[in-house]
Amino acid sequence: MKATRLQILICVIILFTACNQGVKENGANKKGVTKKEWGTVDDKPVYLFTLTNSKGDYVTISNYGSTVTSFVVPDKNGNKSGIIIGFDSLSTYLKHPPYFGATIGRYGNRIGNAQFKLGDSTYHLAANDGKNSLHGGLKGFDKVVWDAMVADSTSPELSLTYLSKDGEEGYPGNLKVTVTYTFTDSDELKIQYAAETDKPTPVNLTNHSYFNLSGDVNNTILDHTLMIDADAYTPVDSTLIPTGEIKPVKGTPFDFTTAKKIGLDISAVPGGYDHNWVLNNKNGALAKVAVLSDVVSRRSLEVFTTEPGLQFYAGNFLDGSFINRDGKPIQLRTALCLETQHFPDSPNKPGFPSTILQPGQQYSSTTIYKVIVQ
Ligand code: GLA
Repeated sequence: MKATRLQILICVIILFTACNQGVKENGANKKGVTKKEWGTVDDKPVYLFTLTNSKGDYVTISNYGSTVTSFVVPDKNGNKSGIIIGFDSLSTYLKHPPYFGATIGRYGNRIGNAQFKLGDSTYHLAANDGKNSLHGGLKGFDKVVWDAMVADSTSPELSLTYLSKDGEEGYPGNLKVTVTYTFTDSDELKIQYAAETDKPTPVNLTNHSYFNLSGDVNNTILDHTLMIDADAYTPVDSTLIPTGEIKPVKGTPFDFTTAKKIGLDISAVPGGYDHNWVLNNKNGALAKVAVLSDVVSRRSLEVFTTEPGLQFYAGNFLDGSFINRDGKPIQLRTALCLETQHFPDSPNKPGFPSTILQPGQQYSSTTIYKVIVQ
């Protein structure tokens, strides 16, 4: 029996759709957003989204923890590799690695003695870092499943929302949070945070991606150069809680106002860099605040933010207990974080910019991680 033209046309359409689906499932070469099932947590479906730009560069993001799991861009020779630490399976994230790529909240970094006073009440949080509270507590925003929505935009875009209930992890107020990720054709990962509350509450959201621009965790980050546009930093006590002072970086190992190798002065800092820099960008406008570079791959990462602070954490606690997706152990200082934020322990430090969100106010914060090859 001879096939009619219509039957042939239908077959062609089916074949075309199937091929396209293949591209979508594997992600990574067609501009747009693709989604694949990645498992279940707390009876909620977990997905892995791939945001691919017109160059075929891509980021992958899961709605578990609102986590960036890979960021793949070319080096000077056009060879593409991943510049952040990440895993291909959800099960590794469920072993609670140290916040690789995750969204941190309700309060990024530390709150001293795991408590703060607001109005007439004292709020008690879980002490999950010695006597202090770190990164939102026992089950912070990095360990919950977010609702996902792929946005219709000129660049691939993904919005994740989460309702943190009144009293969750000890924090007051129902907090509705949205994180929107956009991946542009200029290899910029733009992260926009928005939040609303129905009771006054501290909010400090950040992303905890660990970068190694060489694309190979066999290399430490000590030869990367770093510039931070900050004339001051917040010194800390032995438990990494700010003392409340704001000190000039000039003449100290904390001076990154001109790009220098991270390894140059790190041994003069007990434990290594894990501090908040007071950015010169004071008016809340989006500004370039840091540049990280790797001379070998010739990749640079430019960080733009509206936030007043930047936590530069040099991977001082990495100890090889997690294996990167390329099979290599993630050892001491093989990756670093540049966490845009308000200052740690602000709820207990009246001299620091306030982190208290009031009902009726909009929390709004933007950070861009842009990769360039020079
Ligand atoms: C942050 C902190 C560090 C450490 C890491 C996670 O960046 O500042 O002290 O807790 O997270 O290991």
